[in-house]
Amino acid sequence: MTSRHILSVDDLDDVEVDSILATARATLEGCQPDLRSRFVVALAFFTSSLRTRVGFAVATARLGGSAVDVTEVRGGAEMSRGESVSDTLRTVGGMVDVLVVRTPESISALGKVTGVPCPVINAGDGSGEHPTQALIDLLAIEEECGPVDELRVGICGDLSMRAVRSLLKVMGRRPPAHLVLIAPAGRDEPGVALVGPLAGLVEQRDTGNFEGLDVLYLAGLPAGSGARAIPEQVRRGFSLNPDTAAVLPAHAVVLSPMPVVDEIAPELWADPRVRVFQQSDRGVAVRMACLERCLGGGDGR
Ligand code: CP
Repeated sequence: MTSRHILSVDDLDDVEVDSILATARATLEGCQPDLRSRFVVALAFFTSSLRTRVGFAVATARLGGSAVDVTEVRGGAEMSRGESVSDTLRTVGGMVDVLVVRTPESISALGKVTGVPCPVINAGDGSGEHPTQALIDLLAIEEECGPVDELRVGICGDLSMRAVRSLLKVMGRRPPAHLVLIAPAGRDEPGVALVGPLAGLVEQRDTGNFEGLDVLYLAGLPAGSGARAIPEQVRRGFSLNPDTAAVLPAHAVVLSPMPVVDEIAPELWADPRVRVFQQSDRGVAVRMACLERCLGGGDGR
């Protein structure tokens, strides 16, 4: 085990990634987890979340534990004296078995979890990482399409987003056959160095051309403002719409970390290639496996 925390994909070695995916697969196939009693998980979400926050609450319940929502506490009178995020995390971390944290800025760079006595799971920190999302994405790719090393994977949208960074880190260790990065100018810099096995596999496209892909991962492309604003017509060109879907192979699978804002045109939601809800449906099983890992279990049963 490289770290008791899961702040980054880098905190998981290859054996742990395999174990988390195997445990999640077993859960999805109906295998009952070993229930643990009396463990408590704190959910400290300082920016909005649906899937990750509810997913960890449900994962905790399915493993037999209890979740405490610190988000409500911070928004209430208890925090009116302006206690810092670091002090909040250190205090709560001394009361629970696992702390799940989403912050608007980097967790690890600011030392926000220094001294926290329990394992911390990064539930998405600003433009940093989203490691559990990357594990869900990897599981979805493999379950929907087969071994990733046989696939042509396209990632479309703002390449600096945290979910993309974590996914690219995972793919640096499990390279696809070909990686296509699809983004407009100004959003085409991946937030991670594409070195090692990925370096020779990358093709960059500056138009929404989905030709030849087995997997299309729609990361999202916020409109932005000021110098970072992207015209709506340009944004539309990087969405799944009747024009771009026409060249996407019939066997391809469309995934997204969600929420989907307008990256999928309304008339394409019924397209059988769109598998974003099936992808998100795997989230609880992956988060159960991550909790088990942090609680000292997760044997890939
Ligand atoms: N993918 C994801 O992190 O979704 P939420 O923001 O709803 O948690």
